[in-house]
Order: sequence, then C-alpha cells, then structure tokens
Amino acid sequence: MRKNIVAGNWKMNNDLAQTEALITDLKRQTQTSNAEVMIAPAFTNLWQAFQTLKDDTIEVISQNMHFAENGAYTGEVSASMLKSIGITTVILGHSERRAYYNETDASLAKKVDAALANDMRIIFCFGEELADRKAGKQEAVVENQIKNALFHLDASAFKHIVLAYEPVWAIGTGETASPEQAQDMHAFIRKTLENKYGHTIADDMTILYGGSVKPGNAKEIFGKPDVDGGLIGGAALKAEDFYAIVDAF
Ligand code: 13P
Repeated sequence: MRKNIVAGNWKMNNDLAQTEALITDLKRQTQTSNAEVMIAPAFTNLWQAFQTLKDDTIEVISQNMHFAENGAYTGEVSASMLKSIGITTVILGHSERRAYYNETDASLAKKVDAALANDMRIIFCFGEELADRKAGKQEAVVENQIKNALFHLDASAFKHIVLAYEPVWAIGTGETASPEQAQDMHAFIRKTLENKYGHTIADDMTILYGGSVKPGNAKEIFGKPDVDGGLIGGAALKAEDFYAIVDAF
C-alpha cells in the first residue's frame, strides 16, 4: 500500500541536549496527520530518541548502517545493533554518503540485502547531479542507481522499501525541483519499477521527494500524484517548520 511519509533527516546536527529539546518541541506539537512521521537523529542519540518517542506516533529511524553483521569495521554500526535498540527503518544511499564516503551502487546493494535480512524497512535514496540534468541524463542516471542497487531483489522485498528521489542539486541549496520536475521523475521511477516488477508493485511504491522542501513549497510538491511525501533536511531541524510540512498532507 502506498503511504504518505514525511521523514526528517537530521544529518550531523544536534547533540544529545539539542536532540532532547527538539523532540520535546515535536511532542508538544504532535498532531494527527495523514502522513507517517519519522525523524533520523545521529547514531549517538538514537537510543535516547527511541526511548522518548516509543509511545508516540513519530518513528525514530537511522541515517545509515553497515552491510556486515559485525567484525573489524571501525566506526561502523550494523543492522542488528540498530534492531537491538528498537530501530527498524534505515535510510540508505543518501547522496552525501555516496559523495563523501564512496558509497557505490554495489556497496548499497549489500546494505539493502543486510537490512532486508534483518527485517528492516529501507528508505532508499538516489538522484542525479546538476551536470547530469544539464546534459539531459537525469533519467538514465536514476534508472541505473535503482537497477544496480535494487533489481536483484525478489518482488516480495519491495513492501519493505520506500524510494526517495533527491536531486543532488536541490539538497541544501534552496533550489527545489519544480513540482513538475518532481512529478516527471517520480512517474518515470514508477514506470521503471513497473517494467521490471509489474503494475501492482509500482503502484504500491511510496516515492518521496527530497531537496529544499520547506513549509512554503511542500503542499504543491506533495500535491503531485506520484509524490508520496518528503525527506526533509534543514527544515526538519525546527519543529514548527517540520510540522508545517507534515501539515501539507
Ligand atoms: P534539505 O532539505 O536541507 O535540502 O536536505 C534534503 C535531504 O538531503 C534530506 O535527506
């Protein structure tokens, strides 16, 4: 079933005290919504955030994980470690991970497999760079990112996956894809899934848009038929802004 989701990716922001303060603000303003609401604090604050929100409707999710179960991977965190503190959803493939930590389609395919083997839900991110769009290659780039990391999976895996289209040129730049650009790409992504896995899986897939979503543009972007929600960076760091975006549904 296609869902509406608004997820806040806090990136490397908020220490423990700031995390607690923002969650307090979020809880104060909790409201009923037509969307599932999630936040992704830093690893060090996941436990505290989870404990504070475990009886709330806001789900606490992880920004990343390693593909191995355990072992000599200094500085890394595994799916089973996340599961052991109650975290069951993970963001994979964010463009910042791809750009700064050399995550590739091949390593992401392994992370996807590890998350699924641990019964985790995945928010899988991808998106073209500005040069790709200028060259008119955005669809080919996105198609490859999806095929290379996900198309080895059985159809049954897709009920555990949410897709997030995040054009790199729109992340943190204040430049948002127009609602039409987002819709065109989301329709293309759905078609790509349909060609491989059939209509039902494509139609059921939740596809989020990310990149400079703000209270002022969320309604128009989320109003497009193939946009099922958003992955929010900067605007997720203020409770009022985040809820204004959630309210767009
Ligand atoms: P901004 O909303 O700050 O552009 O970030 C988007 C993003 O990268 C969410 O994962």
